[in-house]
Amino acid sequence: MLLLSIESSCDETAASVVRNGREILSNIVASQISIHADYGGVVPEIASRKHLETISIVIEEALRKADLPISAIEGIAVTRGPGLAGALLVGISTAKALAYGLNIPVVGVNHIESHILAIMLERDVEFPFIALAVSGGHTHLYEVQAIGRYKTIGQTLDDAAGEAFDKVAKLMGLPYPGGALIDRLAAEGDPRAIKFPRPLIHEDNYNFSFSGLKTAVLNYVRKNPAAMEGSALNDVCASFQAAVCEVLVSKTRAAVIQSGIKRLVVAGGVACNSGLRRDMATFAETEGAELFIPSPLLCSDNGAMLAVPGDYYLCNNIACGFELDALPVWPLDAISLTGGN
Ligand code: KG4
Ligand code: ZN
Repeated sequence: MLLLSIESSCDETAASVVRNGREILSNIVASQISIHADYGGVVPEIASRKHLETISIVIEEALRKADLPISAIEGIAVTRGPGLAGALLVGISTAKALAYGLNIPVVGVNHIESHILAIMLERDVEFPFIALAVSGGHTHLYEVQAIGRYKTIGQTLDDAAGEAFDKVAKLMGLPYPGGALIDRLAAEGDPRAIKFPRPLIHEDNYNFSFSGLKTAVLNYVRKNPAAMEGSALNDVCASFQAAVCEVLVSKTRAAVIQSGIKRLVVAGGVACNSGLRRDMATFAETEGAELFIPSPLLCSDNGAMLAVPGDYYLCNNIACGFELDALPVWPLDAISLTGGN
């Protein structure tokens, strides 16, 4: 099936054409980051308006890059949630209107499910596997039995990992979103320079907490204003990143060992982090686990990732239809209960 997928859950307007849920023909992402950076975070109303302005252009570009007329498209997948309600509605209304006009089926897919399955655009992964989804809004550990069957085994109790990166960057005067910049600054710093806390690391569960770690960084830079510049800033970034990575790896390691499932997928925007990729690779090698992390372009928000669940649901006639609406809050376990979405 030739699938057009449309993503507009947050601050990226994205569209992609994918054949049979695996072969990417185009993957166009228009980022609004420079607009939201002025406000230090995503402004929902501005995000919706920008999606409206951009979505047709991005879809046209995706078709042009794939060298296909719109009449060649056989199905449409769109992000239904979780995300910003207004932003999601732009993608959903566009998808429904196009599908209606073309007389083809449309399916709404889960954004986090799409992140987790994105790896299948690059590699085959056998079920079951453990998945760590780390993005701006999520830090969740799942046991994945099949497409559509997810069990949450742990999650953050407060900030998501990406949110912690962005908030720490902001308090150090770095631009939004700060994750990638902290990663770059950390590369030149000493991860052992400052011993920041490793929240919940010794607790016997798979939950995370990052808000206390962010406060620890805030207290440190207040006491040491010189730490906001030069090599001292590199050390703060490296030490903070090391703390986040150690907690993420430690809980993930426990999940892999205790479940006996030696296959691990790491997904979402924070999976671009070079320290996390390296630490996960080291742990996987030590434990003899198979590690799957998509290329950075497929880790952050994009349209192609929707095609893996989208193609599966459309081909199996699950949850397709024009009654689909936005689900700003949509836990993955809710999908498992119904066998589809
Ligand atoms: O998955 P994503 O693109 O959008 C959401 O669904 O949230 O993730 C965005 C998050 C942001 O918080 C961003 O700062 C973070 O991913 N991020 C990173 C890196 N690249 C993006 N965090 C740490 N290191 C990076 N290299
Ligand atoms: Zn995302």
